Amino acid sequence: MKIGICSDHAGFEYKSIVMSYLLNKGYDVVNFGTDSPESCDYPDYAHQLAQAVSAGEVEKGIAICGTGNGMAITLNHHKDIRAGLAWNVNLAHLVKEHNDANILVLPARFISRRMAVMMVREWLLTAFAGGRHQRRIDKITL
Ligand code: RB5
Repeated sequence: MKIGICSDHAGFEYKSIVMSYLLNKGYDVVNFGTDSPESCDYPDYAHQLAQAVSAGEVEKGIAICGTGNGMAITLNHHKDIRAGLAWNVNLAHLVKEHNDANILVLPARFISRRMAVMMVREWLLTAFAGGRHQRRIDKITL
């Protein structure tokens, strides 16, 4: 499975950790930056990741910034993107099972490194439940 990943400076370290985990597990990872801890603007990276997911160039995405909100707000402007912010394993599970989030957003400044990896693992291993949740998703787009 091909997974896209991006962060701003606040998520840069966590992005490296999550990328190592994914590569170690045999996932194909496409890194959309940022590639240093220098201050930068999260939309510059969020838009690239969202376009890649929308176009089917990568199957899913992971986005990381300080709070997660800048990334989530930007990503959710894109058609076909359901970017879900989560900060514990239960939320990472439910954002996939109920919301079929195709991008998981992590708030690096509010979770541990270990939690970030545990959440990514849970989100990737969880299946979308469909049924009533699909009906609700079908009502999202304006
Ligand atoms: C960067 O300082 C911070 O504003 C950013 O990472 C993110 O939290 C924005 O939503």
